[in-house]
Amino acid sequence: MDGGRETIAVIGTGYVGLVTAAGFAELGSEVWCIDIDAEKIERLRRGEIPIYEPGLSELVARHRDRLRFSTDVRDALEHARLLFVAVGTPPTYSGDADLSAVHAVVDAMPPSDRHALVMKSTVPVGTGGSIKRVFHERGKEGFRYVSCPEFLKEGSAVKDFLEPDRVVIGDDGDWAGDAVAELYSPLDTAVVRTDIKSAEMVKLASNAFLATKISFINEIANVCEETGADVVEVARGMGLDDRIGPKFLQAGIGFGGSCFPKDVSALKQLAGNSGYHFQLLNAVIEVNELQKRRVMSKLQKYLGTLVGKEIALLGLAFKPNTDDMREASSLVLSARLQAAGAKVRAYDPVAEAEARKMLQGVEFAASAEAAVEGADAVVLVTEWPEFRELDLRAAAESMRGSLLVDGRNFLDPDAATAAGLTYEGVGRPALAERSSVAGITV
Ligand SMILES: NC(=O)c1ccc[n+]([C@@H]2O[C@H](COP(=O)([O-])OP(=O)(O)OC[C@H]3O[C@@H](n4cnc5c(N)ncnc54)[C@H](O)[C@@H]3O)[C@@H](O)[C@H]2O)c1
Repeated sequence: MDGGRETIAVIGTGYVGLVTAAGFAELGSEVWCIDIDAEKIERLRRGEIPIYEPGLSELVARHRDRLRFSTDVRDALEHARLLFVAVGTPPTYSGDADLSAVHAVVDAMPPSDRHALVMKSTVPVGTGGSIKRVFHERGKEGFRYVSCPEFLKEGSAVKDFLEPDRVVIGDDGDWAGDAVAELYSPLDTAVVRTDIKSAEMVKLASNAFLATKISFINEIANVCEETGADVVEVARGMGLDDRIGPKFLQAGIGFGGSCFPKDVSALKQLAGNSGYHFQLLNAVIEVNELQKRRVMSKLQKYLGTLVGKEIALLGLAFKPNTDDMREASSLVLSARLQAAGAKVRAYDPVAEAEARKMLQGVEFAASAEAAVEGADAVVLVTEWPEFRELDLRAAAESMRGSLLVDGRNFLDPDAATAAGLTYEGVGRPALAERSSVAGITV
């Protein structure tokens, strides 16, 4: 015990694991952080934070004396009874979740009547049951199991951990579920106590619902483009309905990241493996894939062939305030652009190092201004706040062309047009048509 609360362990120190560890340290626990990546553990021991997440380095620094870092899971077993699992569960080629890292952790557990695995990783419904079966077959039935899915959002993960909308705990009604609930007790939040399968499903269903909302508004945006309505106005009008709400109604060039694409496809696969065809999720995925590619036709509409054209990408991360590039729309876009013969120059304020590992043939610029200079067209891919500060007039003057495709409807179309740019948003009419809807206020 340290800080008066139970010592715990977190296995896997990525986005979820490190935030969980630092969050529980903030609540008073000593936390043993375990990872198989020795270099990552070394960096953490030196006080370096391997990922970009606002507020995380400060939190880790504040609780240095409560956070221990190790590559040896025996340290976790010796000091803690609750072992939070936060290893990756990436998609396989078939769309199922790859549970090999989860199974590696399960295999490393010894027989014990004192310990519990607390699953934070997002796993298919039924995983808890399979793990308990494995424990049983191997004479480790004393090992307890709790599902405690994580809902944090990259970019606001620390806040999300400390001020969650809810905590979901699925357990078998033994000491472990109560111990997890006790750990979260300092937080003023709803705690949903349920069975393990339902807890697993809450996570998958929540992400699938949010992804559905995004694909829905993207389809509305596409119909807006056909009909002359402005999706930003439409979303504003819809979002004021209490039953709908304004969040996740921002049309754009598709969702990415480490969670939505893989969790949607994992739920679809899970349903399929059980003999159920989840039609809605097929459409959600397809709409998202097509949405990323619609930028190409917007560019071609104005530029004709893209061979030899210089295209500047503003932002590469899958969303602002993170350096995470997993499934980012920029990956598809830069590949499609280069396949069409364009030269791609890009700037991201934070994700460049990650992007360099994943993007081929892209030239990296040191600033937004440097990226747009000489470009035939600019595509705003990630809505980093600093792009609102861009001097649009200077940008227009430094470009070879004048096209601005605002993939996140982030910039002011009228200001862009006044600066001499040809503005093309997502689901928004051209300037002449827009003047007829201007003035609509709520
Ligand atoms: N990133 C998010 O926003 C988010 C939000 C909610 C839930 N999740 C879920 O949480 C899980 C973790 O996601 P993440 O983004 O933090 O992943 P990540 O890839 O950032 O981190 C995973 C970490 O686990 C480590 N690891 C792998 N195998 C291990 C093993 N056998 N023992 C110890 N460490 C091991 C890796 O080295 C890595 O540091 C996933 O299931 C994900 O779906 C993620």
